[in-house]
Amino acid sequence: MACGEYGPGRMAEPVAILASAEAMLSQGPLSGKTVLVTSGPTLEPIDPVRYIANRSSGAQGTAIAVALRDLGAKVLFVTGPAEVPPPAGVKVIRVETARQMLDAVQAALPADAAVMAAAVADWRVANAAGSKLKKDGTGKAPALEFAENPDILATVSQMAKGRPRLVVGFAAETDDVVAHAVAKRARKRCDWIVANDVSPGTGIMGGSENAVVLITADVQEVWPRMAKDAVARRLAQRIAEALA
Ligand code: C5P
Repeated sequence: MACGEYGPGRMAEPVAILASAEAMLSQGPLSGKTVLVTSGPTLEPIDPVRYIANRSSGAQGTAIAVALRDLGAKVLFVTGPAEVPPPAGVKVIRVETARQMLDAVQAALPADAAVMAAAVADWRVANAAGSKLKKDGTGKAPALEFAENPDILATVSQMAKGRPRLVVGFAAETDDVVAHAVAKRARKRCDWIVANDVSPGTGIMGGSENAVVLITADVQEVWPRMAKDAVARRLAQRIAEALA
């Protein structure tokens, strides 16, 4: 490290080393199991300096990774550029775009379960510029064209070979939350959907609490509003029961 502060030779923070050691040594209900988690937003470039993103903080996905790790799972954490730093004691794979996230997920599999908590951009800019777009003095704005991104959750749910035994998706909705989430579960063919209402009044997107409905083939369970950490622990517990 030429600067002495930053680089691969720098010792990790002691708390991070402790978390990693605990994760490796813990004998929880998910010991010996591998769980892939996607988290955070994706960024879709417009040109080399500009991008389109969304308001996902990565808080819920990060909390899920922590809860799974604490139950003993080996966690493969594929994350877009989130506000919340990735947890210690998990394998962190950083990506920016949805297509990079899909590639990273496919490269990281196999896993016993996959939890897709990322807020993946539905569209990318199809005519992204290779060099910075400039004003040309005419007052005319550039026209962006969009192309649909691959659906990572649907792709993993429908893998013919090597599909994780349990695939969990999220459904952030602003209206008819349960009906839309039930339809989403069927369309994407994941096993469970964690549905939540992200209407502006709820303060859920970017906030520290969540109110979710867990939708499986058999049940629709309304969970009380609680901290995202608590949602994560309850979900991790359910995943452990399902994989047991
Ligand atoms: O269709 P919608 O974006 O509402 O679905 C949300 C769920 O699908 C989340 O689990 C999200 O991580 C996943 N998803 C994905 N790839 C996409 C879009 C959504 O994995 N391109």
